[in-house]
Amino acid sequence: MKRYLCVLTALLAAFGMQVCAANRELPLIQNIKAYESVSLNGPWNYIVDVQEEGYYNYRMKPTSSGFFLNAKPQKPEDLIEYDFDKAPTMQIPSDWNTQDERLFFYEGTIWFKKNFTAKKTPGCRSILYFGAINYDSHIWVNGKEVGHHVGGFTPFNYDVTDLLEGKNFVIVKADNKRHAEDVPTQIFDWWNYGGITRDVRLVSVPATYIEDYNLQLEKAETKARTREISFSARLNHSEAGQKVRVCIPELRIDQQFTTDADGRVEGSLKVSAKKISLWSPMNPRLYQVLISLGATTIRDEIGFRTIEARGKKILLNGQPIFLKGVCIHNERPYGGGRANNSKDARTLLTWAKELGCNFVRLAHYPHHEEMVREAERMGIMVWSEIPVYWTIDWTNPATFENAKQQLTDMIRRDHNRANVIIWSIANETPHSAERDTFLGNLAIHARSLDDSRLISMAMEVSGASDYVNRLSDNMHKYVDVVSFNQYVGWYRDVNDASKMKWEIPYDKPVIVSEFGGGAKYGFHGKKNQRWTEEFQENLYKENLEMLEKIDGLAGTTPWILKDFRSPRRVLPDVQDYYNRKGLISDMGEKKKAFYVMRDWYKNK
Ligand code: GCU
Repeated sequence: MKRYLCVLTALLAAFGMQVCAANRELPLIQNIKAYESVSLNGPWNYIVDVQEEGYYNYRMKPTSSGFFLNAKPQKPEDLIEYDFDKAPTMQIPSDWNTQDERLFFYEGTIWFKKNFTAKKTPGCRSILYFGAINYDSHIWVNGKEVGHHVGGFTPFNYDVTDLLEGKNFVIVKADNKRHAEDVPTQIFDWWNYGGITRDVRLVSVPATYIEDYNLQLEKAETKARTREISFSARLNHSEAGQKVRVCIPELRIDQQFTTDADGRVEGSLKVSAKKISLWSPMNPRLYQVLISLGATTIRDEIGFRTIEARGKKILLNGQPIFLKGVCIHNERPYGGGRANNSKDARTLLTWAKELGCNFVRLAHYPHHEEMVREAERMGIMVWSEIPVYWTIDWTNPATFENAKQQLTDMIRRDHNRANVIIWSIANETPHSAERDTFLGNLAIHARSLDDSRLISMAMEVSGASDYVNRLSDNMHKYVDVVSFNQYVGWYRDVNDASKMKWEIPYDKPVIVSEFGGGAKYGFHGKKNQRWTEEFQENLYKENLEMLEKIDGLAGTTPWILKDFRSPRRVLPDVQDYYNRKGLISDMGEKKKAFYVMRDWYKNK
């Protein structure tokens, strides 16, 4: 059969038609960076292709002779109208918008090419890993398509083993055009940074590897003398009898499990309560964990803690905790552009610490992995979110599958991070039966993947004309924490704040997941003068007094740590394509409201 398929493929190609794309995408490999790998970061050639000449023929049909072949003239008369090797280069990972001023606003396709050498290790598989490409990407290796991926903020990986030779080239078609059916949809209040925005690696894994593993501390009575860590793992295929060994040397845990017919293991690791130091903001204790399968051992750093909602309280390790948070976009600390390394993460998280935070809402999409891992090391809890933002195409099955896949990959990547305590499935979505079905199914899916963390979403309160703000959202039954955004003082008169009453009729903890207002750093005036630092300062003072009245308030994440790029914010000399609600300017300067927020947290 396979032979006939090859003949058919050749015939179709001869008529300039491309057969359906091969797809070598594998389920995301847990902690893939623990394996031996070669970085493909660095300069990549790029070609801006506004009309996708490199992918479609002039009848808008996919062509078999596209840019992905990286073709060169073989004879003097040959016609090839592109040449990657003469094209400019761009440092990858990065968004293209900040790498070439001609691309600041660009939305469309850009092709990237990277040459690389590969040594094949017998008995191993070669996995091509992308930390993220925004938004829609096709990938080819040595002219052969390996897959098509949709979604701009989660990693993905392909098996390219049998395509590799000594010298190779990888080609990426990245397209960040917006569409109503996408996730996020056509409009969103952040910059549409396009391209290969996170790490690219070629990873070597054994033919049989551990595709996913999970370690979670089980809840227990406060006085329990023994604690249990649940452990589960799954191979990349169904195979019984494989030995999986878990070692946590500092806890003197060294246990071996045998896979069942599905290639899975499940069990619990027992440890004396006296011996284990639980992860918390005050004590961000991580343990070295070694997981072995045959001759391969991978290392991870894992913290152990419990998180739960009980009545209107959030309990960390059984004790009530107030989430002193702030919202953050995945942008570099200074100026715009996608953040994508530990240094960027440490700068932003240090600012959050200076604000007095023990918690960050990583809005509105999964941030790069180093942001989560640095926060874990610094003792900062995380709210992680998928970009189901505003007015999604609720009745489109492909849109739901896209959102579900992004949710799956967000949870798959970070479900071993002790500091991630909340999975958020949406932001400010309009009420409807279709939306409730869409989000309800996402919440059920999230819980099926991970029932150890809290589920939430940023709801909207009714913009009541009187002074009573009611939270009424059918999604309350699906979430563990009811969170909502409110903008008294910015989209509503700040003098209403002292008169506001809040009705939240749910016996669940409450997070005010956004509040705040804009100010241009260095612009001063009276507190009623919009855009002055004094206006923002007064807005924070009024809001914080108002928030104290909310029954069940378990946390706040003001909008937002730092000014960020947005195409929706065009006021000259004030916004200039920045959203100015940051407590810190786009150049790292703290505004007066920063200190109001910091002092409130100090007394929390
Ligand atoms: C909304 C939204 C944010 C946006 C903010 C604003 O609440 O969630 O993404 O940036 O308002 O208006 O600045």
